[in-house]
Amino acid sequence: MNLKIAVLPGDGIGPEVILQAKKALYAVGVVYEHDFIFEEALIGAVAIDKTGTSLPEQTLNLCLNTDAVLFGAIGDPKYDSDSTLKNRPEEGLLKLRKGLGLYANIRPLKPFKGLLDVSPLKREIVEGVDFVIYRELTAGIYFGEKKLNESETIASDLCEYTEEEITRIAHLAFQSAQKRRKKLTLVDMANVLETSRLWRKVVTKISVDYPEVSLDYLLADNAAKQIISNPKQFDVVLTSNLFGDLLSDEASVITGSIGVLASASLGEKNALFEPVHGSYPHAKGRNIANPFAAILSAAMLLDYFGLNEEAKKIYEGVEKAIEYNVVTLDLNPDSKFGTNEIGEFISNFILNKDDLMYFNNDNVHLGQSTIV
Ligand code: IPM
Ligand code: MN
Repeated sequence: MNLKIAVLPGDGIGPEVILQAKKALYAVGVVYEHDFIFEEALIGAVAIDKTGTSLPEQTLNLCLNTDAVLFGAIGDPKYDSDSTLKNRPEEGLLKLRKGLGLYANIRPLKPFKGLLDVSPLKREIVEGVDFVIYRELTAGIYFGEKKLNESETIASDLCEYTEEEITRIAHLAFQSAQKRRKKLTLVDMANVLETSRLWRKVVTKISVDYPEVSLDYLLADNAAKQIISNPKQFDVVLTSNLFGDLLSDEASVITGSIGVLASASLGEKNALFEPVHGSYPHAKGRNIANPFAAILSAAMLLDYFGLNEEAKKIYEGVEKAIEYNVVTLDLNPDSKFGTNEIGEFISNFILNKDDLMYFNNDNVHLGQSTIV
């Protein structure tokens, strides 16, 4: 298969984790004979620094004309405290989601067997968890009108949803539930918010088309509790933009680290794959960022194009790395391995190289293995 992939490393640890995802894709290309062409573009704080805008037109155009986008991370603390700033790095990502029509953000939550004890939650809560969050991504409070009065004492963010915006993601979520355990949970605040009541009405109406799927409703505050006290109950969780953002970060606790969570953002014509984590500026350039989420996002990209065997191979590579304890500090505080070594390990696994064993030697120190 020929795929043209726009690569947007972005800020902070973005470039170093995306490099590992590219290594994995490159290895897949070699082994399974695919032609992946990567083209890089700027977004976020680096884009503001170099071009004055967080989403240069060139970047959007590239993404509109590629098969898929691989995205790293966005955000830089130097832009965080400046309230006068018109063009924030994060805006680049929001504009990109809107520009590509990526209305459905899909965030699977399935802990790796080898990481069950890394989670701060009890093993019996974590073991067997397998659900997926469908987060609406191009509307709601993220995109509603923003206001600040002249004296800067009153501010508001409008949360708006149309029936159509709810309908299109609801269908995707129901279709996913139908292929899974046939349970869909709509998370909202229908006791307080008008938009949530519209979500309930629309989703309930659509549920008639999916008679095999059982639909239930959960208020977001309760969902926040249930997601870490009894996460096994969930199969597909459908929710709005803001609730989905909050709940998916919270849910990362189940897997032990947000550094292992990948996501796909889909629209009618475009698809973008990105780690759930942020730019982690403190770790930038230190070879300590967990590349699993970026690598697994590349696997989601392959799955999206029907390259399921290839995606599975990447997934197995991550499992193998965990088995060999070739993980970053967030998963093992004594680890001697960094971002790069993990990327090498997984690409070697895909390439079926036989020097993986170097990594399994307890005596190995950084710099002694043949491939570090
Ligand atoms: C995410 C991020 C973004 C979001 C930020 C960077 C705008 O947290 O993708 O989850 O809130 O959507
Ligand atoms: Mn987030």
